[in-house]
Amino acid sequence: MKITYYGHSCFGAEVNGKHLLFDPFITDNPLAKDKVDVEAIPADFILLSHGHGDHVADVEVIAKRTGAKVVAAFEVAEWFRAKGLSTHPMNTGGEWKFDFGTAKCTAAVHSSSLPDGTYGGNPMGFIVTGPEGKFYYAGDTALTYDMKIIGEFEKPGFALLPIGSNFTMGVDDAIHAAQWAGVTKVVGLHYDTFGYIVIDHADAVSKFATAGLELILVEIGKTIDI
Ligand code: NI
Ligand code: MN
Repeated sequence: MKITYYGHSCFGAEVNGKHLLFDPFITDNPLAKDKVDVEAIPADFILLSHGHGDHVADVEVIAKRTGAKVVAAFEVAEWFRAKGLSTHPMNTGGEWKFDFGTAKCTAAVHSSSLPDGTYGGNPMGFIVTGPEGKFYYAGDTALTYDMKIIGEFEKPGFALLPIGSNFTMGVDDAIHAAQWAGVTKVVGLHYDTFGYIVIDHADAVSKFATAGLELILVEIGKTIDI
């Protein structure tokens, strides 16, 4: 599966010929704004883990250009529907069959409000299943025992996990999360963007390797095949 990293927690996945874009935050991201052209990002669906600004800031401009459908928790979806966007509301535990495959909402331990303070419902992650395989995007979350459900019942091929600590789990907890979710390949997200979440890349990769896991830190703007 082709995954393109746009910085922070924003990435694109090509699933069954459709472009899925997660948590777009580029314009206000000092690490991404010179490396990623917001006007060129493809999107058929925009999946949002929660309503915080560092996950939704570029949703409106991208959705209005591409006509992408916004898939998010009910409260977040309603906020974007009021702005004239096409939306699909979901909530934790729910699954829906889209034309690319299925998306299932997983539990995340975090908070969720929209940039204007509107209540954002539950934060979530997603299990995405398509012909190329299945992956788990955890969203912003702490390590939680719920991740064992993913390893037991979902069995994804790889995971995208936050590793920056302070606002989410850090490297050590993400190693447990990977083990509980039953994956050996992890794409790291939610690190370096702000001073609070700067990490030592070599140390993080080495800690994962010691646990028998591969941590992939994708250069912003680059596409990998995983
Ligand atoms: Ni957040
Ligand atoms: Mn965040």
